[in-house]
Amino acid sequence: MTKTSPPSIIALDGPAASGKSTLGKKLADSLGYLFFDTGVMYRAITWIALQHDMNLRAEAEITGLAQKAQIDIRPPSKNDGRGYDIVIDEKDVTWAMRDGDVDANVSIVSAYAGVRQALSEKQRRIGLRGQVVMVGRDIGTVVLPEADLKVYLDASAEERARRRYEEIITRGDKADYDEILKNVIERDHIDSTRAVAPLRPADDAVILDSDKLDADQVLARVLELCK
Ligand code: DC
Repeated sequence: MTKTSPPSIIALDGPAASGKSTLGKKLADSLGYLFFDTGVMYRAITWIALQHDMNLRAEAEITGLAQKAQIDIRPPSKNDGRGYDIVIDEKDVTWAMRDGDVDANVSIVSAYAGVRQALSEKQRRIGLRGQVVMVGRDIGTVVLPEADLKVYLDASAEERARRRYEEIITRGDKADYDEILKNVIERDHIDSTRAVAPLRPADDAVILDSDKLDADQVLARVLELCK
């Protein structure tokens, strides 16, 4: 009997805080694949722009920044819940990427066509090497339409806000649930109505609802799909 190998390129898309990163990391670990969270790249550009007091509405300047930025994603150096280190100019900015300021502004930056083109090209080059779980909004539709398996992970805005709230509290920081919910709804709206690469499931994606399944059940379903 011949043994079939698991899909080599796995695209995992879905809205903010749907559990994609948790699932992606576990899935990549169990298959021995690279885990690549593309949201980090949009966050990094936003973070650098905020650090340099750049005008986020200045599309040409922000696009120029995305074209030349050196964002390094390395294996995790600390055991504090991170799946990787994000290093910019030799500074560990892994958690700074999750700041409320970045959350509130990243949708503006990720709506720019030039920013998306610059970052998608980098993502595609990495994805085509195979043995990868790539997580984002447009991986199955734009970045890697040839992916062998496409999963779209969905959950209600309330459930996603609750998870983000817990994540922040667990880190020992302060959080306001209503504020987070408002931000999740606002980001959904911008991400799914933008002109370029809007958030939507690919026609051939398997849609999973994580309101009804816990993290282990979702992982079990996707591992089943990999067989
Ligand atoms: O997954 P996340 O919350 O870290 O993503 C941050 C932002 O980046 C989100 O508002 C949408 C954007 N994003 C995107 O437009 N395309 C991707 N492939 C990944 C993220």
